Amino acid sequence: MRKKIVVGNWKMNNTVAESVTLATDVIEALGEGFSGCDVGLAPTYLALDAVGQVLEESDIQLVAQNCHYENDGAFTGEVSARMINAIGCSYVIIGHSERRQYFGETNATVNLRIKKALTEGLKVILCVGETLAERESGVTETVISTQVREGLEGISHIGAIVIAYEPVWAIGTGKTASSAQADEVHLFIRTIIGELYGEPAFRLVRIQYGGSVKPSNAAELFAMPNIDGGLIGGASLNAEDFAAIIHAASVSYVLPRYWDSERALCPGPKIGFPLAKSAPWAAILWEIIPSRTSFLSGRPRCSFGVT
Ligand code: 13P
Repeated sequence: MRKKIVVGNWKMNNTVAESVTLATDVIEALGEGFSGCDVGLAPTYLALDAVGQVLEESDIQLVAQNCHYENDGAFTGEVSARMINAIGCSYVIIGHSERRQYFGETNATVNLRIKKALTEGLKVILCVGETLAERESGVTETVISTQVREGLEGISHIGAIVIAYEPVWAIGTGKTASSAQADEVHLFIRTIIGELYGEPAFRLVRIQYGGSVKPSNAAELFAMPNIDGGLIGGASLNAEDFAAIIHAASVSYVLPRYWDSERALCPGPKIGFPLAKSAPWAAILWEIIPSRTSFLSGRPRCSFGVT
């Protein structure tokens, strides 16, 4: 069972003082109600230290917005994974579309950055997503497949990676992918992960959605079987809105994938799904009995074909 993860990407917003205030407000707005979901905040580099101190007494993770692939050296304006680790970050976002679009990031440099971040013990949020022109010309799957495969080339530690699907046309535009549109791409990504890393990774890798997520659409997105939380831009700059999105993820942690069993994530043997319809708790038991596949069918529970 995958725990959802919601991260606020503050991008190039807020001074250090404003970041500290916002982080404090987020903690206050959350209260006690988010234990069912992982939460992170990604302020500007300048505010990592100060925000990290605010988050110390909370369960919220400190996240960096990028990192370089060398430890040190003549790379003016860059910050290394080693520095990010030393300041207390547990995650780093890599390959955000704004980095790709405005700063020349390629799948090859994304791959180098991920490798270095993992070497430094950081967990990585790898961002992928197609532009509007790519979607309209029907190459979404090709683009996503290339970004995932080349981004992860030579990387074995998939357990330390979260993938964020962020369609470029939905970022900061107010246009959200429909929950069905997003879930389709998430399942496609999950299938690639299954091909590359095997069935456990297919089941366990977390795939966030990003692109105009707001309190009003979060619950529907997070109820989809392959959407494991969100990478939130604009709405994370408001503590109340961000807290509402986190609460939506916390509520949808356990049950919806069983209630919503028609679209459940595994296209393999269907025996778990009728169970889910009639008795959600039986379905949860089904999920946690590891030996069920061999005694019932002798086949793995999930196939990797794209549905
Ligand atoms: P918005 O939520 O502002 O669309 O930004 C999404 C994003 O890019 C998060 O990384």
